[in-house]
Amino acid sequence: MARFAAATVLVCAALLLCVEQSAGSLASADPLSTLFPANSRPPPVMIYCKQNTELNVAVGDDGKVVLAVAKFGEFKQLWWKLPLPALVHGEGHKFWLVNVATEQAIATPTDDNKREVKMAPFNPWDKAQLWVPDTPDADGFYQIKVSADESKALNGLGGSVHKGTVVGIYPGNPVSANTLWNLTSIWPFPFHYFP
Ligand SMILES: *[C@@H]1O[C@H](CO)[C@@H](O)[C@H](O)[C@H]1NC(C)=O
Repeated sequence: MARFAAATVLVCAALLLCVEQSAGSLASADPLSTLFPANSRPPPVMIYCKQNTELNVAVGDDGKVVLAVAKFGEFKQLWWKLPLPALVHGEGHKFWLVNVATEQAIATPTDDNKREVKMAPFNPWDKAQLWVPDTPDADGFYQIKVSADESKALNGLGGSVHKGTVVGIYPGNPVSANTLWNLTSIWPFPFHYFP
């Protein structure tokens, strides 16, 4: 009887150890590499702003998401547009935007009163990191809507965009040129639109 109890304790201890180890490795695993191994990622894109197509979305030196003058080979201006696996019908167009230089994702502000988007560690469970593309206009520019609240869209905050304009989210109506984007790997951008 004693022997049986000892064996049970041993088996239990071994099981516990296994559970602990797999939980530990899950917690430490990098979700970006797990979900999108480096060799499986799509070619990075630049996110051009319709209001001034010389500008595109970049991670600024201070870590903020800003508009920068488009420059070839600047990793802070390159983004992986990573598709949400289409498990649910109609969910297939949603995507995450992960910066090539920082490997962090663009996230909407958690505070409803804030507008600026932030860079955050990629987290596929965080609804604040998911985006929905709207239908492109005749020029191939479209709104990038907040998945959790599609009345809001990515926005060059403040209207007349310039180098250093902070990028955030704002009501998508009216559909002004600082809310319209084209995500492409083409450089230099072939399409010029100046209002
Ligand atoms: C983005 O612009 C490029 C270059 O003008 C164009 O080829 C592409 O179709 C546009 N993207 C979309 C989704 O319309």
